[in-house]
Amino acid sequence: MIRNARIEDIEIINDLGNLVSNTFSKSYNVASYLENNKYIILVYLEENIVKGFILVYKNIDYYELEMIVVDINSRSRGIGTKLLKYFEDNYLQKNDVIYLEVAVNNEKALKLYKKFGYEIINIRKKYYQGIDANIMKKVIK
Ligand SMILES: CC(C)(COP(=O)(O)OP(=O)(O)OC[C@H]1O[C@@H](n2cnc3c(N)ncnc32)[C@H](O)[C@@H]1OP(=O)(O)O)[C@@H](O)C(=O)NCCC(=O)NCCS
Repeated sequence: MIRNARIEDIEIINDLGNLVSNTFSKSYNVASYLENNKYIILVYLEENIVKGFILVYKNIDYYELEMIVVDINSRSRGIGTKLLKYFEDNYLQKNDVIYLEVAVNNEKALKLYKKFGYEIINIRKKYYQGIDANIMKKVIK
């Protein structure tokens, strides 16, 4: 199941986030985001255990997909797809714009985003410790 993140999920969200960036729990204050309606954090659970999350920031006139992470042992089983679809279906409307950044060598994430219709609009040179980042955009139809 997918639901909004709660206080009891903070630790696992930080653990999952730290898999992607070891500064996640320092850079992202998940506890404060839970009380801030500009942030959307959704968690995917199996047997009551959080297996993945998506973190989105709602800017004035666009959304930023900050992070999507699935537990290493649960990847490639459709969880990332479900999280992204749930977010789009429940939070976005026609003409909404969403941006994200992803390392050019993150093939799995790139495939996921392309599958959802995100397009590369720019490249940020050497953004991730020497690796370029794709800036991607989607306009909801
Ligand atoms: C990116 C990530 C969230 C995807 O989650 P996931 O649950 O593994 O993704 P899904 O199973 O829904 O697969 C989504 C798409 O990714 C691609 N994909 C999945 N597994 C793949 C694999 N082993 N090799 C290549 N592509 C793969 C496929 O295109 C797939 O779509 P399809 O099954 O319809 O063909 C997950 O791999 C992850 O947590 N990665 C580390 C964190 C990260 O890099 N996040 C993105 C930047 S913030």
